[in-house]
Amino acid sequence: MLGLNYASLDTDNKPAATPPIDVTALISDPAERVRLKGLLEETLYGSWPEGLPVSFSDWRIIVPDYLEGRGTLEEMDITIGADAGARTFQLVAAFPNGAVQAPVVIAQTFGSNCATFPEQPVTSLDGDPCTIRDFGKFAGMIISAVFGEYIAEAPVDLYFDAGFAYASFHASDFIPDDKDEAGPALEGLGGDPNPGSVLMAWAYAFSAAVTALEADERLDNERMAILGHSRHGKAALLAAAWDPRIDAVISHQSGFGGAALSRSPSGERLDRMVKSYPHWLAPSAAAYAADPARLPFDQHHLLALIAPRPLFLGNARRDVWSDPNSSYRAAIAASKVWKAYGETGLKDDITHFDPAADIAYFLRPGGHSIVDDDIEAFLAFLSAHLGTKPELPNRMRAP
Ligand code: GCU
Repeated sequence: MLGLNYASLDTDNKPAATPPIDVTALISDPAERVRLKGLLEETLYGSWPEGLPVSFSDWRIIVPDYLEGRGTLEEMDITIGADAGARTFQLVAAFPNGAVQAPVVIAQTFGSNCATFPEQPVTSLDGDPCTIRDFGKFAGMIISAVFGEYIAEAPVDLYFDAGFAYASFHASDFIPDDKDEAGPALEGLGGDPNPGSVLMAWAYAFSAAVTALEADERLDNERMAILGHSRHGKAALLAAAWDPRIDAVISHQSGFGGAALSRSPSGERLDRMVKSYPHWLAPSAAAYAADPARLPFDQHHLLALIAPRPLFLGNARRDVWSDPNSSYRAAIAASKVWKAYGETGLKDDITHFDPAADIAYFLRPGGHSIVDDDIEAFLAFLSAHLGTKPELPNRMRAP
């Protein structure tokens, strides 16, 4: 947990992901996708809130000459919910000047929008423009020292350099990451069904951001990537499994409930997760967490639901808590589905990073954080897959 150990690079001496994926059924029979998603909902995650209303405001220009005039920083309100308990949060987006059909990265963050866009007057939690108090400069310095330079601040200039627009929202502004507050917040959203867990609700928030951004002609609807770290990397995987409009996924250090195999005995494990973060998963998850062998699937099935769209899985050698080794074994098992679609799939080497592979596994030294090397790897992956318009849009290839 403290990052003092190293994840094993040995995969041959550990069990392959089980149960096996029925690759033929998954790529040829839409009913198999429905069945798998049903299993994920019934056991760990609860319902995806299909059809839960999403509405959004016009853009407000926050900084007309953002990054020394390279673009604009804008903000909109997104509202999700069917009842009086509908909830509103702010999506902040940086558009490069003259953007026409630009690809976009949509991030969901731990840090507030004030921390993601430091020193910019985006709206803070109290409804006023962010001030130094909201940036929490000192607290921010400590967090960055432990969890990496980019754990909060978005390096928008680098995304601009690669030709991407960048949008971001703070997940807890929608549903608080708090075991007491989350339940009533979810229930208040209404809908039939209601989101079955906080991870499902955060996943749906990615989807709501896609709905809002698709309406903007500056962006290319066929090149929309989502990005999440850790708990938000879990939500990103769920969002892409349920929403075919998502064209590529960066899921960084997602761990248990994300890309790590629930049957793996190393790392956090689901039994610890349901104790510390009971709101993330559905109430039904506790029984499976106590005995993961009872699960009728494992996380390679979740990854496989994203194929053939490009998927990046970020890992770090000392991030043993999120179990890079079992995430690799999940990726190897899921890779068969990418290959069956005629894509490259994953190379059989845990240390080999190929950003152009459709399922790209990245392992660096260091711990649970977002550092320079991660951003470089994210950008290499994004440029390889969405840097130029694909001949056949990813969403048309997706079932
Ligand atoms: C905790 C939790 C992990 C999670 C991580 C994070 O460590 O146990 O499951 O991924 O927080 O979100 O940073």
